[in-house]
Amino acid sequence: MGVTVTVPQSEANSEDRDTLELLLAEVPGLSRLECTHRFSGGYSGSRVYLAQPTFGVTAAPNPWIIKLGTAAETQAEDAALVLAKSFVQSNLLASKLHVKIDGEHGVLVLDYAAYQGRTPVDLEFTMRRPESEEAVRSVVAALAAWSNSPQWHLRNLPRSLKDWCVPKLEGLPPRIRETMGLPTVYSPDFGEAYANPAYHLTRDLPRVEVLSPIGFAHGDLNLRNVLFAREDGHAVVTAKPVFIDFRHARQDGYSLTDLAKLEACIRYQQMPLIETSDNLSQMGAALLRQRETIEISIT
Ligand SMILES: Nc1ncnc2c1ncn2[C@@H]1O[C@H](COP(=O)(O)OP(=O)(O)O)[C@@H](O)[C@H]1O
Ligand SMILES: [Mg+2]
Repeated sequence: MGVTVTVPQSEANSEDRDTLELLLAEVPGLSRLECTHRFSGGYSGSRVYLAQPTFGVTAAPNPWIIKLGTAAETQAEDAALVLAKSFVQSNLLASKLHVKIDGEHGVLVLDYAAYQGRTPVDLEFTMRRPESEEAVRSVVAALAAWSNSPQWHLRNLPRSLKDWCVPKLEGLPPRIRETMGLPTVYSPDFGEAYANPAYHLTRDLPRVEVLSPIGFAHGDLNLRNVLFAREDGHAVVTAKPVFIDFRHARQDGYSLTDLAKLEACIRYQQMPLIETSDNLSQMGAALLRQRETIEISIT
């Protein structure tokens, strides 16, 4: 019978509609899929839609999340999600409903994480509300649980730094890229000269082996990859974060990267936006307390 897909209007999206009709044709009983919203601002090449499925003539009770990408992207994300399921408690991640990959494209169909009849909110939104401290605490407690039994291995840290940072250099603004040939740069803000990271990252770095805690890591724990349900009265259910977007997850990551990324996102993206200093200092204190807990359990 096949499935009829509708997508938000745009030429680019109508290609996605045709691809989805092909990829989802075999989902048993699925007659209609109405993609109602396309999430923007993600960092992957995939397109992410919120969609309402209908089986026969009956609308499913919960919407779906559709992640459509190249075959290789979908395959990698699916494998990372399977891995994540063996380290992260099942109620803390969105479950996979279907996956289908053809020669060129792939689609991953996921549960709408933290959906309880109301649209969930992400950690970025929650950071500006009074519940931010509780939210940070529960997120850090969850990630402490998956980071708490690392194995210690020698790792070449400069190599890891290059793996992380070099692919991002080409995204730097032209003004910064122009300085890449200079070993030191002068900072007018601080009135001092500093070693230029971009210069060193594009050259051979000495090998420096450091004993490091290695284990499962989400790999991209930014503020939009954590969702919370909203109750009827609009309260954010901060005790139960749901983590999404595990495509960078690995079992041999540095155990502190998730906490470090979360902390960097909070400090550098959110703190300048958070208005009351009360809220700010409470949150900073919560983060520090949690960091001590996780650092103690790792050492
Ligand atoms: N399972 C899900 N449940 C609810 N929202 C989701 C889900 N997956 C993705 N989203 C929404 O779509 C956005 C982009 O999806 P994500 O998987 O994070 O892609 P990207 O790799 O582009 O960051 C998320 O920030 C979130 O708002
Ligand atoms: Mg994401």
